Amino acid sequence: MRQNSNSLAPFIPTPYYVVRKKLELAQIKDGEILFDLGSGDGRIVLMAAKEFGAKGVGIEHKLSLIEESRDKILELGITKSVIFIHDNIFKANLESADVVTLYLTTRSNERIRVKLENELKKGARVVTHNFPMIRWNPNNIIKIKEGNQTHTLYLYKWNPETKKI
Ligand SMILES: C[S@@+](CC[C@H](N)C(=O)[O-])C[C@H]1O[C@@H](n2cnc3c(N)ncnc32)[C@H](O)[C@@H]1O
Repeated sequence: MRQNSNSLAPFIPTPYYVVRKKLELAQIKDGEILFDLGSGDGRIVLMAAKEFGAKGVGIEHKLSLIEESRDKILELGITKSVIFIHDNIFKANLESADVVTLYLTTRSNERIRVKLENELKKGARVVTHNFPMIRWNPNNIIKIKEGNQTHTLYLYKWNPETKKI
């Protein structure tokens, strides 16, 4: 599929049971702030808020997906703790993030890596889906099998000293 130059990945939603695994793997807690970079239809942000008591920020460059996400905020009645921003991932300020989720590609992760390294606070957790951060050492990797599909989740706890050189 041809993508525009700003696009870091096409829209492929994470299945809901894998969304829950991501949030459990990150051990997201009540009141923590989660950013989903490329938030699609908003499912990760919305589950983080509804089931884990987190505050969620979704950044997505496709307007139709932002509109769909905002509609779900109203349906679920959780307007105070989530926000969906129609913008490019590179414009997000990640300094307040406790957890960042990414479902992009290895190449896109590599494009975002320096931004994460510059902005994340020590101890922030990053969960990537199927594609690792190739210069970081994961703290945990889990595989979730369903039928003939396997989802691999990588957990990183950001610490400048654990970065691979
Ligand atoms: C594989 S989907 C993942 C969606 C969601 N995070 C999930 O796991 O269900 C990747 C999303 O990133 C969005 N995206 C790609 N490049 C982007 C960019 N530069 N800025 C904002 N969103 C982007 C796509 O439109 C798509 O919705």
